[in-house]
Amino acid sequence: MVTKPVIRVVDLWKQYGDDNKNGVALRGANLEISAGETVALFGKSGSGKTTLLNLIAGLDRPTRGLIEVDGQDLETLGERGRTELRRKRLGFVFQFFNLLPTLTAFENVFLSLELIGKPDPKTAREALAAVGLEGKGPRYPHELSGGEQQRVAIARAIVKEPALILADEPTGNLDTATGNQVLDLLEKRCREHSMSLLMVTHTPLTCRYAHRILRMVDGVITEQTSCAEIER
Ligand SMILES: Nc1ncnc2c1ncn2[C@@H]1O[C@H](COP(=O)(O)OP(=O)(O)OP(=O)(O)O)[C@@H](O)[C@H]1O
Ligand SMILES: [Mg+2]
Repeated sequence: MVTKPVIRVVDLWKQYGDDNKNGVALRGANLEISAGETVALFGKSGSGKTTLLNLIAGLDRPTRGLIEVDGQDLETLGERGRTELRRKRLGFVFQFFNLLPTLTAFENVFLSLELIGKPDPKTAREALAAVGLEGKGPRYPHELSGGEQQRVAIARAIVKEPALILADEPTGNLDTATGNQVLDLLEKRCREHSMSLLMVTHTPLTCRYAHRILRMVDGVITEQTSCAEIER
């Protein structure tokens, strides 16, 4: 049996609004990511990276083109199917952490488990410990540093052991040392649990952690490039 890729994107187009000249964010993007692979996607601001992640996550719909996640065609799944897939099979790490401010670190992670019907406090505590935040569970996001908040966001994404983690500028808000720690952690957890990781970034830092490096230019994924090329 041939295993299907975790992500398969074919000739993907996204136009925001109906002005033909402006707002075309994706212009025929193609992408395949296998199980367990860590891929970094580089591109300048406005090149279409976040648009692509949102479409893969089923948070928005393409103008045309095919998206399969975990072997399932997002269009055929319908809204309810996409929500279900997102909850059970996908983890997210956003640029600005996106923790719920009225919930503690522990509650943010626990909620992720509740949403998939596995409300196990021990698993939530273990996920926090795995990102080095043992004892910080009762703290609210505003009582944590940027790096700690991002680690809570990682704990929240990994706790359900999804097939795929999508990370949009996971180090965007962090200094270099903290950014490296966060990437180390993310890469390690994904490797240990055979999760695929797609990281979107415009900083070279990220590329050392990836098996494969892609570049996005004007809504198209153009080339497979090397770490050295990015850092030049
Ligand atoms: N909701 C929207 N409505 C209209 N245009 C949008 C919308 N979201 C994004 N765009 C446009 O689509 C293009 C791609 O945006 P996108 O956010 O995907 O870029 P990006 O590569 O993530 O950039 P950055 O590195 O700055 O985060 C940009 O020209 C942007 O202005
Ligand atoms: Mg973006």
